[in-house]
Amino acid sequence: MFSDMTTQLPVSTNVVWHHATISRAQREAQNGHRGAILWFTGLSGSGKSTLAHAVEEMLHFRGCRTFVLDGDNVRHGLCGDLGFSAKDRQENIRRIGEMAKIFMEAGVIVLTAFISPYRADRERVRGLIEHDSFIEIYCDTPIEICESRDVKGLYKKARAGQLKEFTGVTSPYEVPENCELTVSTGTTDLDVCVQQVIDKMIRSGIIQH
Ligand code: ADX
Repeated sequence: MFSDMTTQLPVSTNVVWHHATISRAQREAQNGHRGAILWFTGLSGSGKSTLAHAVEEMLHFRGCRTFVLDGDNVRHGLCGDLGFSAKDRQENIRRIGEMAKIFMEAGVIVLTAFISPYRADRERVRGLIEHDSFIEIYCDTPIEICESRDVKGLYKKARAGQLKEFTGVTSPYEVPENCELTVSTGTTDLDVCVQQVIDKMIRSGIIQH
């Protein structure tokens, strides 16, 4: 429970951090790669989930421990109580960030696919993680392409006024300014995008060549 979601101050008291006996380094040594968070951000229909799952597949077959946290799925469970106001999106991203951090500490490569439209929310997650374990990947697909795909029919609903606070239409998307990688998911073949992410992970020392 939180006293105020905007300040995010926990109200739990008398709780003491319990240190794990097995360290993150030991887990990473066993896995043969570092734990990390690949944070995919972009408009609905920009290809975040498709790319995250394709990268996961590639990593899995290389023997890496991976897990994808996907916007639509997480909103069925952990974040099923949240809507799409700025405040709810902030809380959505806060929960995902904390969960991704736990996976990362378990030595897993976590791939998250959330619109995460607000820079401040993404930066808050970045602040939880040490510098070289957080890779923000902007899925840069122009809204015209997302809208022409409209796989879920949500752009159509938003334009018709049947869906409020829809990102890119009636709710903002703040383009990343200093992300680690921008991928042209609207115009570049999926396998090329996957390779760009893998190359970045190698350069960052998360996985070996
Ligand atoms: S976020 O803004 O809080 O990061 P998240 O990624 O969890 O959003 O959920 C986005 C998904 O919810 C979209 O892919 C879409 O299928 C669905 N959705 C339903 N309503 C909206 C809305 N108003 N704005 C954006 N996405 C919505």
